[in-house]
Amino acid sequence: MNLQAKIDQKQATICVIGLGYVGLPHATAFAQAGFRVLGLDVNARRVVAVNAGHSDIPDVPSETLAPLVASGALQATGDYSRLAEADVALICVPTPFDDMKTPDLAYIISAAEGIAPYLHAGQMVILQSTTYPGTTEEIVQPILERSGLRAGQDFHLVFSPERIDPGNQQYSAHNIPKVVGGLTPACTELACRLFGHLTPAVHAISTPRAAEMTKLLENIFRSVNIALVNELALLMERMNIDIWEVIAAAKTKPFGFMGFSPGPGVGGHCIPVDPYYLSWKAREFDFYTKFIELAAEVNADMPEHVVRKITAGLNLAGKALNGARVLILCVAFKRDIDDARNSPAQRVIELLLDSGAEVAYYDPFVPSFVVGGTVLHRPRLTLRSTPLESGLAGADAVAIITGHSGVDYAQVVTSCAIVIDAVNVTSALPASSGRVIRLGAPMPAASPPL
Ligand SMILES: NC(=O)c1ccc[n+]([C@@H]2O[C@H](COP(=O)([O-])OP(=O)(O)OC[C@H]3O[C@@H](n4cnc5c(N)ncnc54)[C@H](O)[C@@H]3O)[C@@H](O)[C@H]2O)c1
Repeated sequence: MNLQAKIDQKQATICVIGLGYVGLPHATAFAQAGFRVLGLDVNARRVVAVNAGHSDIPDVPSETLAPLVASGALQATGDYSRLAEADVALICVPTPFDDMKTPDLAYIISAAEGIAPYLHAGQMVILQSTTYPGTTEEIVQPILERSGLRAGQDFHLVFSPERIDPGNQQYSAHNIPKVVGGLTPACTELACRLFGHLTPAVHAISTPRAAEMTKLLENIFRSVNIALVNELALLMERMNIDIWEVIAAAKTKPFGFMGFSPGPGVGGHCIPVDPYYLSWKAREFDFYTKFIELAAEVNADMPEHVVRKITAGLNLAGKALNGARVLILCVAFKRDIDDARNSPAQRVIELLLDSGAEVAYYDPFVPSFVVGGTVLHRPRLTLRSTPLESGLAGADAVAIITGHSGVDYAQVVTSCAIVIDAVNVTSALPASSGRVIRLGAPMPAASPPL
């Protein structure tokens, strides 16, 4: 049976390489769609957990995973030789940057090197990790061709960007449209047929590099627009205008405007990282991506602004930041998820510690949080989430960095004299007027009741 027939009849075995926030939802979705799935991960603990039916990825509940494992539809392994059984290899490994913000392709390279010895004629390799245009053809293809097989002739090679949004209740691997760019039209066609089993909308694009660029465009669009509202938030604070009110009003325009929210900075695996992949690659073409750099600079300055607002709040109470006890709510990089990678809370906490503040944090999703150990050469420090009640009781100021929906913000604003709200979760609270300093909004008219 050729690969197309195997895909059409769901007889293809799919090996998902990397069982993280992207890989495990895909492994699960393909198994649910009726394919036999191998999940391959270098993290032995994750392999054992998946084979026991336990998921640590919130988008994949263990109740969903366990029956798929029990039925044999999904099996995890750490053994690359199992790729010999696979018809399709889907690469979902991390693409971070190093301390100098240079793309770190080590995980993609090691995955490709792991596949190459077991690559066989007719197999399809699909890279899903976010990366700069050219990675599939310039990095992955030559490694795979060490096998002696030729991409586009003997095996199929494709880039398909991943758009999953952890914690999003509306969109998942089952209904987010896929963009597919193959090395040849035949590669594209096969990958479209495969993803057509997962999601109703698959969009074919001419080349892998156009598909790689599509993902970067999406994330750079977000980064630049977030930077724009962040900059305007700083201006509107000075002009005594509430940016949240202005954005809500602008969103009533049914065309030509899209609302973005200001905040304490950007976090996660995508928005603070991916734009740098393009600015790095652009230099090869003697091109400087000014918007990307400017947006990154504005967004990277927001934690400092949050600390300025905490300082201003303490000033109202006649207190110095040095020696003040500051409670951070919360540290995940966005609401209602457990992912704290590159969270702006990290920089806020580091700056507070630099100024001599005592910092505690509460986050129901993130039991421990590492700060320091960054390019700024601070010592690494592991903080543990404090209970909310005692954290509030002991705090001189509370800074809301991430607005998890389960937190009782009415309790927060009545428990602490100074609350800095960087994400606008307190604006509707009646008791908040004198005590809360919101990012992007005028300072409270009255001094806080102390
Ligand atoms: N997390 C997101 O929201 C998201 C959204 C869209 C795209 N992406 C992109 O998807 C890619 C994966 O991100 P993620 O968040 O799933 O990462 P992750 O860290 O959650 O998971 C990656 C997994 O890959 C494993 N791994 C690393 N090297 C490996 C190797 N050589 N062989 C096998 N397994 C290996 C790790 O052990 C880990 O389990 C990145 O390029 C990221 O930018 C992420």
